[in-house]
Formats: sequence, C-alpha cells, structure tokens
Amino acid sequence: MTRVFSGIKPTGHLTLGNYLGAMRQWAVVDQHRAEALFCVVDLHALTVDHDPARVRRLTRQAATLLLASGLDPQLCTLYVQSHVDEHARLSYLLECVASDGEMRRMIQYKEKAARERERDGSVRLSLLTYPVLMAADILAYGTDEVPVGDDQTQHVELARDLAVRFNQRYGHTFVVPKATRPAVAARVMNLQEPASKMGKSDDSGLGIVYLLDEPDVVRKKVMRAVTDSGREVVYDPEERPGLANLLEILAACTGGNPDELSAVYQSYGALKKDTADAVVEVLRPVQARHRELCADPAYVEGVLRDGADRARKMARPVVDTAYRAIGLLPPV
Ligand code: TYM
Repeated sequence: MTRVFSGIKPTGHLTLGNYLGAMRQWAVVDQHRAEALFCVVDLHALTVDHDPARVRRLTRQAATLLLASGLDPQLCTLYVQSHVDEHARLSYLLECVASDGEMRRMIQYKEKAARERERDGSVRLSLLTYPVLMAADILAYGTDEVPVGDDQTQHVELARDLAVRFNQRYGHTFVVPKATRPAVAARVMNLQEPASKMGKSDDSGLGIVYLLDEPDVVRKKVMRAVTDSGREVVYDPEERPGLANLLEILAACTGGNPDELSAVYQSYGALKKDTADAVVEVLRPVQARHRELCADPAYVEGVLRDGADRARKMARPVVDTAYRAIGLLPPV
C-alpha cells in the first residue's frame, strides 16, 4: 500500500491556504487511499524566534483542527513530531550526507533568513538545516508520496536527493519519495498582496483568511480583496493575479474550474460575494467540529498518544537500519 506522509508547522493560526492546499486533500483523499501519517511538526516551529507557551498552544490547536477537518484516527496516524525521537535521530544522519551549499540555495531559507536577520540580527542554525529535518520526517517512514502545497516542492526534492545519495553511498535504505499537489489552490495568495503566498506567520490582517475566522470576518476579508482596475472577469494568473486567486479559491471550494467559472461572472462584486459565501460554507463544518473537540481535550490527547506510539513503531526499524548502514556500532 502507498505510504503517505505530510506535516504542518505550528508557527501561527492555520489558514485557508493550509486547508485548500493540503489539509483538505489529506482528509478527503489521502487517508482513504493510502497508509497515511500526518504530523504537527513542532520542532520546525523552533527554527525562528518563538514563544514556548504559544508553540505548545498552537501545536494542540493544529492537531485539533486537523481532526476537525476530517482526519480520522481509525484511517490515519496523527501525532506530534517531538513525541517521536526518530525524527531528530535521523536528521543528524542526513546532515552527514547533505551539504551546506544545497541548504543555502533553498528559496524558503533565503526568504526567512533575510527576515530573521533584519528582525533579530542573527539566524538560527536550525533554520539552515530545516530541510534536513523535513527530509528525516519523510524518509523515516518509507514514504512514497508527500501531499503538499506548491511552496514545499523544493524541500521534497531535497528529501529525494538525500535519499538517493544515502542509498548510493551506504546501500539501499530509503524509499525515494515524490511530492503530490492538489489540482487547484496549490498556492493560495494573500488577498491584499496577490503576489505573495497566504502564509500563517505574516500578520497583515485582512489578507489572510484563518480557519477559525467568524463568517462576517471571512466575508469582510474576501469582499475587500485587492483585484485590479479592469472590469471583465478573466482567469489570467500572470496579468490579473488577485482575480485569479479569487477564482481559484471559489473553484477549490465548489469543485469547479477557475477558467470556466470566470465566464459565469459579469462583475467583480458578484464573484467576491459568491467566493465569500463558498469559503464560509467550507469552513462552517470544520469550525463546528473544532468547537466540539475543544470541549473534549482528553480525546485529542488520546489520539496524539496512540498516533505517536504507532509512528514510533514504523520509524524505528527504518532509522535503525540507517544507523547501521552509515557505520554506527549497534549498542551492546
Ligand atoms: P506549512 O506549515 O507552512 O504548511 C502546511 C501545508 O500547507 C500548505 N500551504 C499552502 N498551500 C496552498 N496555498 C498556501 N497559501 C499555503 N500555505 C501553506 C503547505 O504547502 C504545506 O503542505 N515545511 C512544511 C512542514 C513540514 C512538512 C514535513 C511537510 C515539515 N516536515 C514533511 C511535508 C512533509 C511547512 O512549513 O508547511
């Protein structure tokens, strides 16, 4: 059976981008067709300036929202990265096959490092090695497929490269994974700055729809989305990125196609109204289930405990094999 792994980082409140680009696919498709693991990657949240209490809170919230989005612990394994030591163990071995040059070439590193340097004057070493830990997440489970939004493709490519290199040097150890992406909404853009991704750690308020935004807040954000001065509704991501983003969001929420949908609308206003309604409807059941789950924290904890137990059992043999292959003496 195909093995699927993916993760989400608790660095901010989860967004519509996370949902349409990744989480919904995990719940609706992946957990039904594959042996699937989904992980709240809290170690990755420590790579930039962080508040310990906030990371803990966001980790619990992300796990709760993943369940609210439809992940079913009977069908998949849901857990927290730091509960399974194998991630950190394997990450070190992979640092011994990765080069600093390939880390410095990562687009997200360049962007985030520039931001951190400006804000703080320094960059955590863990930000540079971030993609190695991510490769360890993936490779520890013999993963075939990694369902992610567009922005993670380069990181998954690196995991492939490291798997191939390790296998060539030390003998076949890892499955070589590949990224998969949703048909639409693989890159949901910021509603106020359609040239940038809708990212959870930017706090430019109106441009980001959060999964827990109230319906009137969602409506306000979508109705105020930046479009352009044209009048005709056309799907042209290059020339009309704001409009294309709304069409993609609407298509992702209603199961349509952005190009076909553009022909349906005569005005931006009508498109915005329908998009706002569609987003509110998509979020409604997630928010309702989230409220129920918040009232039952013991259930969520139980899911995470069982998930970590299962994940540990899967990762252990793979990581132990890698330890032997690379030249470490088994404990006596
Ligand atoms: P993260 O936490 O930034 O995002 C989680 C998932 O949501 C997708 N996503 C988006 N998709 C479409 N439009 C957007 N605006 C948008 N924003 C986010 C991301 O592509 C991702 O699939 N490095 C990863 C976490 C990670 C991981 C892993 C993923 C750590 N280890 C192993 C897969 C496998 C990250 O920061 O995702």
